[in-house]
Amino acid sequence: AADIPVITIDGPTASGKGTLADEVGKALGYGVLDSGALYRVAGLAARRAGVDLDDGDAVAALVPGLDLRFQDGHIFLGSEDVSARLRAEATGLLASQVAVHPQVRSALHQLQLSFRRLPGLVADGRDMGTALFPDAPLKIFLTASAATRAERRYKQLISKGIPANIEGLREDLEARDERDKNRATSPLAPAQDALLLDNSALGIEESVTQVLDWWQQRRPF
Ligand code: CDP
Ligand code: CDP
Repeated sequence: AADIPVITIDGPTASGKGTLADEVGKALGYGVLDSGALYRVAGLAARRAGVDLDDGDAVAALVPGLDLRFQDGHIFLGSEDVSARLRAEATGLLASQVAVHPQVRSALHQLQLSFRRLPGLVADGRDMGTALFPDAPLKIFLTASAATRAERRYKQLISKGIPANIEGLREDLEARDERDKNRATSPLAPAQDALLLDNSALGIEESVTQVLDWWQQRRPF
């Protein structure tokens, strides 16, 4: 799989990773891995099973039994379309709670690697460049100010008809970032060879253009 190209996009919440990954994937005809969705599924499944979120072994034990299906941008757990439920900020918090456990991270490892297929992959998360695809020829660490990110998340939720409060969102998002940065296993941090992209003042299109330029410079792929 090492010869299958991967672009990794890591960074804090609501920095625009998912949007950038989708657009770059579309432009290059590559597949996309939204690794956060897998942690969100694990968090949701643990909550539903009544498992203690602090019990890493118990949460990890649920992972092999998850009946997950990815279809046209939707995620099904069994026959239920859980896509909307997964995007809720409450599920993001559950995800970050189960994501601290090394057992949960290793339970999801192989599934994430299996997304590396021809003609290539754009992978978004926290540890794509550091832990999952350390050999990726292009690694991006995407950031934006906390105020910008809270505002983006706020607009995103409101546009979907989901009620939101901008101050509360900013607190949730900063709490989640702190937990992600300070955990012992695969903390949120740029890979040594990552390129930093602060898109606080960049539109989506400009960010996509920047990444595609960098990718051009990384050829032949
Ligand atoms: O995946 P991540 O949580 O990092 O962020 P996202 O869901 O891709 O982006 C959060 C929101 O910010 C989306 O509604 C994007 O459209 C918006 N966004 C933006 O307004 N400007 C950017 N340069 C990037 C994202
Ligand atoms: O879209 P947003 O950036 O808010 O979150 P996400 O990418 O869906 O990730 C949700 C949570 O899962 C994060 O806050 C992390 O705790 C965890 N996560 C992780 O630990 N490692 C990854 N590769 C992706 C997500």
